[in-house]
Amino acid sequence: MTKLKSIRAFAVLAVAGGVAFGGAAQADENAELIVNGEIKLVTKTAAPDHLKDAVDTIYSGWLFRETGTQAMQMDDFVNPGMLDAEAGIELYNAVDGTEGKSCASCHGDIAEGMKGLRAVYPKWNEAAGEVRTMEMQVNDCRETRMGAEPYKYISREMGQIVSAVSLQSRGEPVNVAIDGPVAATWAQGKELYYTRTGILDLSCASCHEENYGNMIRADHLSQGQINGFPVYRLNNAKINQVHDRFKGCVRDTRAETYNPGSSEFIALELYVASRGNGLSVEGVSLRN
Ligand code: HEC
Ligand code: HEC
Repeated sequence: MTKLKSIRAFAVLAVAGGVAFGGAAQADENAELIVNGEIKLVTKTAAPDHLKDAVDTIYSGWLFRETGTQAMQMDDFVNPGMLDAEAGIELYNAVDGTEGKSCASCHGDIAEGMKGLRAVYPKWNEAAGEVRTMEMQVNDCRETRMGAEPYKYISREMGQIVSAVSLQSRGEPVNVAIDGPVAATWAQGKELYYTRTGILDLSCASCHEENYGNMIRADHLSQGQINGFPVYRLNNAKINQVHDRFKGCVRDTRAETYNPGSSEFIALELYVASRGNGLSVEGVSLRN
């Protein structure tokens, strides 16, 4: 039933947008993502157990991009997102706030201090009793440890520092926890993922679970994974954070969207991250 309904919804979408929704365009499933000729990333692997009823295999969005775009992510000198990651490393090392500290003052060299962290975020913070995204953790350290102003949730600086932190997990498998204290948040995120909204009556699943591999407008639909985030998008020529992308996708369904940093998007991020458990963190990836 859901399948039929989604096909109807797509017909509506095609009419509403005056655009074509087309049949399958094959991603080259055997393309290999090897960065700088040496860092081999997992872009295709068995779905995590919690997803087995829905899909067998999970794919990085990289596999759905054109060869030229794919190639740009395979060379750090060509990937424009690496400039933002470098700017993020400078922010990490810069003293800011009333305490006269930088991130490095407490966490040491970024390659050591931030290693592996991106792979397990969003994550439960016991002291605060909340699920935290990387952006929230960065701002918490800025405010409570550095006496510095928080960055705007979606901003150039936040995108840069999260890029720098994410790069320290490049190649590590996404491995967010979905049980224990985060279970309720995860369930909320799952609910949001499957809820149809907007005048087009589409859920995340309508596009990214039921139609990945198909074309929508000029876009080759992926599974909407976030293992590659933050991503540098050629379309808007900047770093895009997870909640920015969620916002754009919700808007495409002609629905009211949640705000970046809202409890709804935090829950959705945890859930979407868990759908990618097993794919490599790509650090700063490149998309169109
Ligand atoms: C004054 C010391 C201090 C400074 C400066 C500081 N932090 Fe932290 N940071 C901590 C402590 C202590 C924790 C662990 C407690 C917690 O989880 O809240 C932590 C936790 C973290 C974590 C989570 C680690 C994990 O295991 O999940 C990240 C990521 C992080 N900090 C990043 C940063 C960044 C980025 C900056 C600079 C914007 C920064 N921190 C500045 C003390 C600091
Ligand atoms: C109308 C179809 C549609 C819906 C509904 C939709 N998206 Fe998307 N989404 C796209 C398109 C098109 C792209 C760009 C091509 C791609 O990567 O799939 C995209 C890209 C993404 C990406 C980037 C993937 C990458 O590797 O760069 C994420 C993450 C994402 N969507 C998440 C979501 C979430 C979460 C929802 C539900 C709130 C959602 N999308 C709903 C069409 C949709």
